[in-house]
Amino acid sequence: PAPTVPTETLLGFTAVAKSVADKVAVPAGYTATVIYALGDPLTADTAPYKNDGTDTDFDKRAGDHHDGMEYFGLSASGTRDPNSSVRGLLAMNHEALTQQFLHANGATTGTRPAAESDKEIDAHGVSIVEVQKGTNGAFTTVQSSPFNRRITPLTPIELSGPARGNDLMRTKYSNAGTTTRGTINNCGTGITPWGTLLTGEENWGGYFARNAGDVAARGGEGNMANVALFRYGIDPRTQRVGTAYKSSSDAFTSRHGWETSGGDDKYARWNISQGGGAATADYRNEANTYGYIVEIDPYEKTAAIKKRTALGRFAHESASFAKPVAGEPIVCYMGDDSQGEYIYKFVSTEPWNPADAAAPNRIGVGDKYLDSGTLYVAKFDATGNGEWIALVITNSDIAGYATYDFQNQGDVLINTRLAADAVRATKMDRPEWCSVHPTTGEVYYTLTNNSNRRLAPNTSAYPAQFGLDAANPRAYTDTDGNGNSGNVNGHIVRLAEAGGKGNATSFKWDVYLFGAESDADPSLINLSNLTADQDFSSPDGLAFSKATGLCWIQTDDGAYTDVTNCMMLAAIPGKVGDGGTKTLTYNGTTSVTTQVGKPATADTLKRFLVGPKDCEITGIAETPDGKALFVNIQHPGETISKGNVNDPSKYLSHWPANAGYGAGGANGRPRSATIVITKNDGGRIGT
Ligand code: FEO
Ligand code: CA
Ligand code: CA
Ligand code: CA
Repeated sequence: PAPTVPTETLLGFTAVAKSVADKVAVPAGYTATVIYALGDPLTADTAPYKNDGTDTDFDKRAGDHHDGMEYFGLSASGTRDPNSSVRGLLAMNHEALTQQFLHANGATTGTRPAAESDKEIDAHGVSIVEVQKGTNGAFTTVQSSPFNRRITPLTPIELSGPARGNDLMRTKYSNAGTTTRGTINNCGTGITPWGTLLTGEENWGGYFARNAGDVAARGGEGNMANVALFRYGIDPRTQRVGTAYKSSSDAFTSRHGWETSGGDDKYARWNISQGGGAATADYRNEANTYGYIVEIDPYEKTAAIKKRTALGRFAHESASFAKPVAGEPIVCYMGDDSQGEYIYKFVSTEPWNPADAAAPNRIGVGDKYLDSGTLYVAKFDATGNGEWIALVITNSDIAGYATYDFQNQGDVLINTRLAADAVRATKMDRPEWCSVHPTTGEVYYTLTNNSNRRLAPNTSAYPAQFGLDAANPRAYTDTDGNGNSGNVNGHIVRLAEAGGKGNATSFKWDVYLFGAESDADPSLINLSNLTADQDFSSPDGLAFSKATGLCWIQTDDGAYTDVTNCMMLAAIPGKVGDGGTKTLTYNGTTSVTTQVGKPATADTLKRFLVGPKDCEITGIAETPDGKALFVNIQHPGETISKGNVNDPSKYLSHWPANAGYGAGGANGRPRSATIVITKNDGGRIGT
């Protein structure tokens, strides 16, 4: 049955207090149950997870660092049923690793043993796992489900859209530049109107290595190949040795050193240094095959997986669709999560045909809508208006850009950040998730924080710093212990498209909420009047419930963690422009005027969950009836001293082992995990 409007009172629960306890806290009357943690087996013949660093076979187990997640309903006979609230598939990202916990004695430094790299590679990617509702209303995973699978950094994936076959995509693996292997650092997710998963590749650049001298081998700092790699952070000058930054003649060091594990291409390809021969003889272009929105059909193991290059290449987070309208283009919103990066949307060439929502060839439907269209970047002005600028090679700012010489439209999409620079889009405070409000159609973007937002930008090349603007109006120092500075607590910006049309080229905007500690200065920091029941810092995950319309907000914080672990809040937002303007004046001199939403009240914003120690709360998926909410607890206890690897009592977190889940007990190794939240009276979540 289709969801109905709830009759319960939204936000009727009692707010959860801030906490530094090593557990998940939810309101009275609710239950949070762990259902799927790092290492849990996905086939009938995979052994239970020992959680002592000796486990292998991560291509048959849950990966690490659970992140964005979507629910895909299944009928009793195992076919797609978007309305099913009793059986479904959870598709989720495994963004990264807490490397030490995967190995018995921590990770080997220097040359990495192949067996360690194999585990780490396989623990990245995506999982698809079947879940079924039990008699108590909670869900459990189905270990032997034929739908269960892992997509890892080794799974073959097609490059699709305008950059397929581009010269910049040619590698030793795919001389034609049409395929690549795997997906990595998958962060936010999206669900298409036709029932596939979109997963965003975020901080992929750090997995690659460059030898000392590779900048020179490619023609020096000004060579276009280096300009492009630098713009995506694959730049030795951004890395330090001790306190000093490296120079461009130094090596660029990869995050995990997989390229040191041997000559097999599955390791060698993480070193993208240019050899002496053709591009098809080495992996100089390998990084160009990462950084996309990837489309996966969770129902169909044999369907092709495709990187949708038309949606641009950057540090992708979530992908959120405007409600499709028959006969009009489909519209997908996206953000690029790095300091000073941009907000984007994709508008399809093809108008929406509602029959495609139930078409059996789902990846074919993706080909139709996601391979041809226009990518736009957002520019915010000082008066609450904004414009979308098309990133097309015919734009004179792009064609004539002095910093980078674009060869073709494929190049514009591969080097999206440079194209957005060329048109002088607005540099935002780390755009994380976005989500479209189900009734107003307004688009919400979390801007998690930016330690390099300053009253005035500096003039040195690295690290880049960004001056204040109306849409990014805060720069201050956190004085209560953590010493953070810049935009310490983050904010949430929202956009209303002109005429309510997703394909509009102008919009109105405001700052819906400012993150803040409740006792912070109300004139510069706690601008949304947050109280102790609702104060938060560093919003990251954000998604609207299709069942209740509630806006779920999750945090990934390092500024308020002296007082509270990361959290999830429920909100009932108003509309763009409902709070007027506010002027922030710093030091009595520098001032910036911004557009703001109505201040929060107890009826519009309430803390719903606090996680265990040293975690991030992320991933929001629900059953269509709104009675089960799936949430991911990412990297509890990730901050460990390497010297303490074999001293479990020193781990910052022992969750969920300390809650009785899996092996390890009170001193167990912590694990990223999915929880399901149910209401004890069987009601909807957030009421
Ligand atoms: Fe993976 Fe930007 O969070
Ligand atoms: Ca995130
Ligand atoms: Ca984050
Ligand atoms: Ca603080």
